[in-house]
Amino acid sequence: MCHNCVADGPSGASRRSFARFLAAGAGLTVLAACTPEAPAAVAPASSPAPGVTSASPSAVSAPSVDSTTAAAEPPPPAPVPPSAALPRQFSLTDPASPWLVVNKRRPLAPADYVPADLVQPNVRLAVSGEAALLNSTTAAAAEAMFAAAAEDGVSMTLASGYRSYGTQVATYNGYVAARGQADADTASARPGYSEHQTGWSFDIGDGGGACGFQPCFADQPAAVWAKANGHRFGFVVRYPWMFHPITGYYYEPWHLRYIGAEAATDMATRGINTVEEYFGVEAAPGYA
Ligand code: DAL
Ligand code: ZN
Repeated sequence: MCHNCVADGPSGASRRSFARFLAAGAGLTVLAACTPEAPAAVAPASSPAPGVTSASPSAVSAPSVDSTTAAAEPPPPAPVPPSAALPRQFSLTDPASPWLVVNKRRPLAPADYVPADLVQPNVRLAVSGEAALLNSTTAAAAEAMFAAAAEDGVSMTLASGYRSYGTQVATYNGYVAARGQADADTASARPGYSEHQTGWSFDIGDGGGACGFQPCFADQPAAVWAKANGHRFGFVVRYPWMFHPITGYYYEPWHLRYIGAEAATDMATRGINTVEEYFGVEAAPGYA
């Protein structure tokens, strides 16, 4: 599985470079990154994805990288829990739950979890094998979303879906070998910590554009459409721009996570950007 940013490899000056931004009002130095799902090649991202709006996290329970600035920050607001009006409530810890929150502080249990209902969705595929699989709920939602995007003239591909624990071992180790562990941890989950292992998440592409798995993908029609419409089908952009201190990962405009249409729409309506904030769990900037 190879999700290139560019073909110039991970070493020297061609390695990932980040654009640093001071988040207005939040005191958060946030790093924009090319965060491909595999380390074969890395883009020299030197600026944020054009057209991407910077936003300050609505919850500031995550630590700032600038402690001097952070000291002047107001106290963090209380987490914003899911609306009590939602018709259903689900587990935040069961890997089979659409509300599972898995991040650097919340590993999968069991670590080698395998969804019982993996299926291949009837969508345009950019991958084959296990990477073309999703759990059955996510697959059905993806089919509906891809069809709606196509009706709007937007080309969307499934670029990376399910990833087994064993595959994540290889993926993560590849990142570490190519970029070092600290850098790897900004882009790839450690085995047992990836949403891809649950079948609830997948990465989208646009079927051949040059921006696949690069920051500039944020400006491509597939990403713009998914960001604006994904909630109607139950999806959120899981690692949004500027929320690395909460999610633990740099912006991945291609990585969508199913949480259900009610919750995703509730998040969008209330302007909540991360599932950590929405479900009221602690920020996960790093591994415990
Ligand atoms: N790229 C995301 C964080 C993963 O590896 O699951
Ligand atoms: Zn992903």
